[in-house]
Amino acid sequence: MKYIYVLLLNITMVLVSLTSCGQARQEDTKTATVMLQQNTVIGIIGSGNVGGTLGEKWAKAGYKVLFSSRHPEELTDLVKSAGNGAEAVSVEEAAKRGEIIVLAVPFMAEATVSKQIQPFVKGKIVLLCDNAYPGRDGAIAEEAKRVGVAYYAQQHYYPEVALIRAFSSLPIATVARATASNPVKIPYAADNDRAKAIAEELIRAANGTAEYVGKIADSRQLDY
Ligand SMILES: NC(=O)c1ccc[n+]([C@@H]2O[C@H](COP(=O)([O-])OP(=O)(O)OC[C@H]3O[C@@H](n4cnc5c(N)ncnc54)[C@H](OP(=O)(O)O)[C@@H]3O)[C@@H](O)[C@H]2O)c1
Repeated sequence: MKYIYVLLLNITMVLVSLTSCGQARQEDTKTATVMLQQNTVIGIIGSGNVGGTLGEKWAKAGYKVLFSSRHPEELTDLVKSAGNGAEAVSVEEAAKRGEIIVLAVPFMAEATVSKQIQPFVKGKIVLLCDNAYPGRDGAIAEEAKRVGVAYYAQQHYYPEVALIRAFSSLPIATVARATASNPVKIPYAADNDRAKAIAEELIRAANGTAEYVGKIADSRQLDY
């Protein structure tokens, strides 16, 4: 009797462990479908406080980062500190080779930047970190702030990309301080599932916890 009881207990344990193993494998596959590849190339336009901080985090998380500037020769220290094969390149090259493009420039520069990178970004994921301030960016900032900076950019500069709005609503120093064990909440907006999945992965890799707030047209709350 005791033998049968032990046998039944063992069979139950094996069944339970097989079921949870199957579930774990299913979850792994589900995660794998939304995860970026580690060698995904992220092209950063504007490698100042925001672009530099995010790029370093992503390089350390395993992504290939292309930092760009109008003076890429001045980015030597940043590239070295980021590691993982990061490079300093021209704005056009970052847009051309980047599979995901990150915009982190003063908003007034977008009139020029969007024309420069337009041939290379069609259909790509573009993450817009810029904010718009009338005192810094001129009259265009008033208009952009009225409708929402990301919505304005989507309508006027980037109609043919899958836009993500994130990292705009909090000081970048807060993101810089975040760690995997002490993440910071990062609200974001995007229009489709692919952009949402990639936004969540970029936020996670920057030690953030993603919080979806809605579509680009409703992302004015993320302007700072
Ligand atoms: N700092 C924050 O806490 C924070 C937080 C959220 C959002 N933001 C917004 O994010 C954007 C970037 O802020 P930041 O603090 O990183 O500014 P930043 O340190 O001044 O960096 C901006 C970079 O933009 C580049 N740039 C300027 N004009 C350009 C042009 N025409 N073409 C290409 N690159 C150009 C500059 O690079 P080169 O001169 O080397 O070309 C500069 O390194 C701003 O719109 C800001 O309002 C900032």
